[in-house]
Amino acid sequence: MNWVSVLRERESLFRRAPSAHNTQPWTIDYRSDDIVIGVDPARSLPGSDPTGRDLALGLGAFAETCLIVAADAGLAVDCDLSDPHRIRLHSSPAKYDTIFRSVDIEARRVARGPYGEGLLDLVILAALEPGIVHVRSRDLAGELEVADRWMFGTPPVARELREWLRLDPSDPRYRQDGLTDRALGLSRLEARVLSGALRALPITHRLLAASGRNLLRYEGSVLVLTAQCSSQRDLRLDGRRLLRTWLLLARFGLAVHPLSQLLDCPVTASRLASRVGAMPLAVFRVGHPRQEPPRSARLSS
Ligand SMILES: Cc1cc2nc3c(=O)[nH]c(=O)nc-3n(C[C@H](O)[C@H](O)[C@H](O)COP(=O)(O)O)c2cc1C
Repeated sequence: MNWVSVLRERESLFRRAPSAHNTQPWTIDYRSDDIVIGVDPARSLPGSDPTGRDLALGLGAFAETCLIVAADAGLAVDCDLSDPHRIRLHSSPAKYDTIFRSVDIEARRVARGPYGEGLLDLVILAALEPGIVHVRSRDLAGELEVADRWMFGTPPVARELREWLRLDPSDPRYRQDGLTDRALGLSRLEARVLSGALRALPITHRLLAASGRNLLRYEGSVLVLTAQCSSQRDLRLDGRRLLRTWLLLARFGLAVHPLSQLLDCPVTASRLASRVGAMPLAVFRVGHPRQEPPRSARLSS
């Protein structure tokens, strides 16, 4: 069996890579001696991700996931980002040098429930890659309210979020993609109420915006991944960095919860850029989750 077939056998594992709204926008073309990863336009988010930032970050995270899985399978594989529209995995003289293993990929998941109080300690902050800035969660609590109101009050953004919600376990897509009630930390009753209320949009949006009001009102840490200075910046490289950061934090028992609305809302995005003194690319709270986060759905291989 050549390396392409060996990696293909592990497709369900590298499909565990994260993506905004769990759209899993990647296409995977297995060829005789390379694998080409592209984008399924039907699974992109033109309303909420008009610049393609999250799409590029997700593609980078997917490539990093593939490289980790390949290295753990003993395969010498590298990736080529020279084409802006696709990523090519190809054989290479040496295995990808990484501390991460397939078990890290298997265990990774976003946790949206409550976290224990406490800031990240300095040992952890020192272990992070450059360009990651720490902010106290309370300092962003008001900003999150502004961003949530913007998100639920901006029709194309709210509509897209609704399209990817999976609130009914009998929905055939419930085990395939999108954001389930469980992933969002909703009880069955809350999910049913939300599902019914989605028809009364303006009210629902106010309720949804209010539900996140206290999310950052505790003593906790938020990390901001910022753009590194480079003339040839490729967001897919930042996506690779993002995934490594999430996996490293998980090694310390820490979970993450991205809050991309802080970057999508123009007002909060510009204030966050001033606060961290750089261009923010991803924002996520970090902490010890109080409950075990659920495993999210994936399309089958
Ligand atoms: C670039 C990017 C942006 C994301 N933004 C958000 C976000 O704003 N809010 C959120 O709850 N999850 C966000 N996520 C997490 C995804 O929703 C999550 O990865 C997906 O639902 C799959 O779940 P899992 O990571 O637990 O496997 C983001 C993920 C990526 C890669």
